[in-house]
Amino acid sequence: MKDKILLSIETSCDDTSLAIFKNNKLLSLKSATSLNEYQKYGGIIPEIAARSHEKNINLVLNECLKFSEIKKEDITDIAYTALPGLPGSLHVGKVYAKTLSYLLNANLIPVDHMMGHAFSFSIDNDNEIKYPFLSLVISGGNTILYLFKSSRKYIILNQTTDDAVGECLDKIGRALNLPYPGGISLDKIYNQKKSNLKCIPHLNENKSFSFSGIKSFATNCINTCKMKKTKLDSVALGSTCLKWCIDDLLMKVKFYAKKYSIKDIAIGGGVAANNLLNNEIKKIKDFNFFITEKKYCGDNAAMIGQYVILSNYKTII
Ligand code: KG4
Repeated sequence: MKDKILLSIETSCDDTSLAIFKNNKLLSLKSATSLNEYQKYGGIIPEIAARSHEKNINLVLNECLKFSEIKKEDITDIAYTALPGLPGSLHVGKVYAKTLSYLLNANLIPVDHMMGHAFSFSIDNDNEIKYPFLSLVISGGNTILYLFKSSRKYIILNQTTDDAVGECLDKIGRALNLPYPGGISLDKIYNQKKSNLKCIPHLNENKSFSFSGIKSFATNCINTCKMKKTKLDSVALGSTCLKWCIDDLLMKVKFYAKKYSIKDIAIGGGVAANNLLNNEIKKIKDFNFFITEKKYCGDNAAMIGQYVILSNYKTII
């Protein structure tokens, strides 16, 4: 029988990422990023991201083919991130996938980026999760808690009403003059002993995710220090804000897991790489956590291909 060679393409934000699977086994994952270009702006510039995808995508494909020792003529299926994401960035990936599928006569499979993150825990992971399970996706653009009944059937239990948690951390990092992205910077400077500033908004397990309050708390503290000409303890403020975000995420996840009598909980997305989150999870004994491996937390094409495989090549979009 002919080998099934799946090429997956992820270009929803700043990472140009491609992966190749042979008969559902990951052979290669290669990425290029334009992240360094955003240091001076403190955030992603969509136009730069789209242009950098267009510049890098052929190079990344060639690297992927070389590493996996596959000829492009052997590709049978092409999956690409169709949504959500930056329109210009998504467009580059979509047009590239469509053109290749036409030229190579390969099946074209659009994928929801969020499903990629929601199932990214299963890449290179032999531990089987049991349905129904919860999957928390925490990234720069989204904070969503899903309940999956199967790979193609889910309900959304909770999502942010304003900023995504990663976006909130990035904005706090920028206000504190930390290197971009702020989420990673706050992870690095986190100090438990200093993470207990007063006046933290009240946490409520039953309410929707919302992170704009903590962002306002941070900017108010910074402005008050400026006005009163007092010294700001950036580590204390950054650590307190990070702790508040992580506590809120875990409290709500536990609330819903208990409410729906669910044992297995998956976590994916860029913020899933956070050390405080991972340490706090180790202390929780009542549930089985499936945390995405750090190298698959950020946007990557392996998660796009993995979801196609888990959904038996019948994605929902
Ligand atoms: O999943 P991702 O790469 O892109 C989106 O789809 O948004 O997530 C990027 C987000 C950024 O907000 C970044 O600050 C955050 O993930 N992030 C982290 C860590 N690594 C990345 N936040 C906290 N701790 C980290 N170690």
